[in-house]
Amino acid sequence: MEDVRPTIALTTDSEMMFGFWYPALRSSRVRGRGLRKTMLLGTPLVVGRDDQGGGFALRDSCPHRGMPLSAGYFDGETLECSYHGWRFHAKTGQCREIPSLVPGSKLKVDRIFASHFPCEEQDGYFWVYMPDPSAPNEPAPPAPRLPVFSSRYRMTHLSAELPTSVDHGIIGLMDPAHGPFVHQSWWWRTRHSIHEKEKVFEPVPNGFRIRAHAPSTNSAPYKLLGLSGQPVTTTIEFRLPNMRFEEIHSGKYWFSSRATVTPVTANHCRIDFCAAWNILGWMPFFVPLFRIFARMFLGQDQRTMEKQAEGLKHNPLMMLIDDADRPAKWYFQLKSAYLESKRTGQPMVHPIPGPIALRWRS
Ligand code: FES
Ligand SMILES: [Fe+2]
Repeated sequence: MEDVRPTIALTTDSEMMFGFWYPALRSSRVRGRGLRKTMLLGTPLVVGRDDQGGGFALRDSCPHRGMPLSAGYFDGETLECSYHGWRFHAKTGQCREIPSLVPGSKLKVDRIFASHFPCEEQDGYFWVYMPDPSAPNEPAPPAPRLPVFSSRYRMTHLSAELPTSVDHGIIGLMDPAHGPFVHQSWWWRTRHSIHEKEKVFEPVPNGFRIRAHAPSTNSAPYKLLGLSGQPVTTTIEFRLPNMRFEEIHSGKYWFSSRATVTPVTANHCRIDFCAAWNILGWMPFFVPLFRIFARMFLGQDQRTMEKQAEGLKHNPLMMLIDDADRPAKWYFQLKSAYLESKRTGQPMVHPIPGPIALRWRS
């Protein structure tokens, strides 16, 4: 008999995963030599772009006495702290000047660094690599990129703040059973459209994927994609630490999206949704319409999680049931397997041994 006793204590915060890239803020928020404050994994950051167009991210705290560097002055290459004028190279964090020093001072100014982080612009975001504190000098892999399948395409971005830990944001994102309740609407699905589903999941490095399948027949937007007359297939993939990818293909037409759930602090996260497609470019108002529906969708999830956060304040226990909550169980297993392999230096033991069919109603 299946054991459904509450097994996982739910707390409002959760362990955050270092050693990964996270989207820190939208590219469009930084103009010219402007500086922007943001926060990732509880770390305050100041983000900007130098005169060569390269993004930079520094800890928003002067190594002298903690003044936020975002309050300082940026000349396109170096950032000057507003308190005592120490100047730091924006890309490397290296100190270039301490105005209070007298000539002949023994202090090695160039050995002083403001904490800085690898920073790259991709898909309309400043991505910041948050290194693992146990391996701070490990080189960062390339920043993530949304998969695209033709040279011309449209792209759009949406985001929503969630007052929950990253874990709840993520399991909410991959939860197959909430659709008919949270996302009820005539054009998407209703409670009466609930029917049994079966999908084959398979392991991928650091995650799992729903094997390419024909999309759900009760979803009107997917029908639009079938207009090409070609069969429509969709693939959904989750990858640690926080990414859900969805690809839909129909002949030469495609739609690709990525949702990331980024821990801002231990009990606050943000969903960043980014989508690109080469379909329906001819249809007027497609982009604004798409944004209206996507915003509505994201808003439904956001309001649900705001209410859930009220319940989570009292540290309930969690009951994850098969098969609808299996992806959530896998997420927790993947996360602990990953953290365990980091701790021991041993290869990660993937919790999903092979392809497996899950069945649920939604
Ligand atoms: S606190 Fe930044 S220069 Fe003193
Ligand atoms: Fe949802």
